[in-house]
Amino acid sequence: LPITDDAVTFTDASEAFARDLDASDPLAHTRERFHIPGVPGSEADKASVYLVGNSLGCMPRAAAAQVEREMEDWRTLGVEAHLNGRVPWYSYAEALREPTARVVGALPDEVVTMNSLTVNLHLMMASFYRPEGNKAKIVIEDAAFPSDSYAVASQIVHHGLDPREHLIRLKPRAGEHTLRTDDICTLIGDRRDEIALVLLPGVNYRTGQCFDMQTITAAARGNGVRIGWDMAHAAGNVPTRLHDWEPDFAVWCSYKYLNGGPGATAGCFVHERHLGDNGPPRLAGWWGNDPATRFEMVPEFVPVPRADAWAMSNPSVLAMAPLRASLAIFDEVGIDNLRAKSLQLTSYLAFLIDDIGCDDLSLLTPRPPEARGCQLSIAVEHDAQGVHAAMGEASVTVDFRRPNIIRAAPTPLYNTFHDVWTFANVLKTHVSAGEGQG
Ligand SMILES: Cc1ncc(COP(=O)(O)O)c(C=O)c1O
Repeated sequence: LPITDDAVTFTDASEAFARDLDASDPLAHTRERFHIPGVPGSEADKASVYLVGNSLGCMPRAAAAQVEREMEDWRTLGVEAHLNGRVPWYSYAEALREPTARVVGALPDEVVTMNSLTVNLHLMMASFYRPEGNKAKIVIEDAAFPSDSYAVASQIVHHGLDPREHLIRLKPRAGEHTLRTDDICTLIGDRRDEIALVLLPGVNYRTGQCFDMQTITAAARGNGVRIGWDMAHAAGNVPTRLHDWEPDFAVWCSYKYLNGGPGATAGCFVHERHLGDNGPPRLAGWWGNDPATRFEMVPEFVPVPRADAWAMSNPSVLAMAPLRASLAIFDEVGIDNLRAKSLQLTSYLAFLIDDIGCDDLSLLTPRPPEARGCQLSIAVEHDAQGVHAAMGEASVTVDFRRPNIIRAAPTPLYNTFHDVWTFANVLKTHVSAGEGQG
């Protein structure tokens, strides 16, 4: 089906049509590769409708075996597993390099799996936020994820500057929910002499807006402004071409669309032009040193000419193991194929919400498919908490953001069109009942 417009692409809101869509879905089989959380109190095999892959992705069925193998190697080999494990721990992150690069569109040397997201953001800012004279400000969205707000403000303070003066917070135009690409690019151009760094999300956590990363990155680069992307809600959700688009850096977590499990080791991208000896100053630790000379234990740091030069500590093997299982599925399916299904799932969701035809419901997420990922954020005018409670009662897991936003993220690896239909049906039943009560 061509994806152009929600109402043009879909015209049938019946349950039977949802079943038909599932029956003709070429990616339907990937759901079997995941454990879908069950309905509390029901038989173990009754899966809930899980629409919160934007928060914590489902567990790949192969994940437990990956973790158990490392436990087994620890049990039987102890320290020897660093070099002689089935996947030697010394170079465990290597096994994640190429699949990660494929998911985010990077060269293998440009990515590293390490730490957690906010830590990586700080490490990147230590290198790429270098305030000089008047060129000292950071641009973020006013609606940035709180951890990002805290991180940038503390970096500004760390440089002896005042966030009240040095933080530019982008706000949507009056009456709008999301930022316009042109407005962002114009601001970067107009204030290029003041801006040291732009930090934006690939996809905003609250509105689901997918930013035009290519155009905004080009505007920053063209104006001599450094730019980094927080791809927490973009990695594994929307295809990106980080190498070609040329941002300075990007960071993401692995527990959302990448299904790496709670606290999974995060990801980081540094563009090729910054790698090697000519890179910017960085905070260093022994894991950023060339592995060939790491155990010579000399005090001079020899950065490996890869994004790994920013790695500091030996990474948690147990926090990386589930990610191997998930990335293997991404490799089998391909991020572009996943995106094709995702566009259909989310378009179908938008169509069903429109079909309810209730003034109480409005979408915060932009309409053009290229301006959104899996997630739709739905503002519910009256009794949003009641809608959320009704979802819980129907075993539909979605999340609620105060004051009145329901976020639903059908995820192409494991959600069905029938999941989407079920969600919309609960929504319809609840808002219709509300209307009946006047
Ligand atoms: C956009 C964004 N930035 C930062 C974070 C913080 O992530 P972490 O706790 O892994 O540092 C999150 C977590 O959900 C997020 O969604």
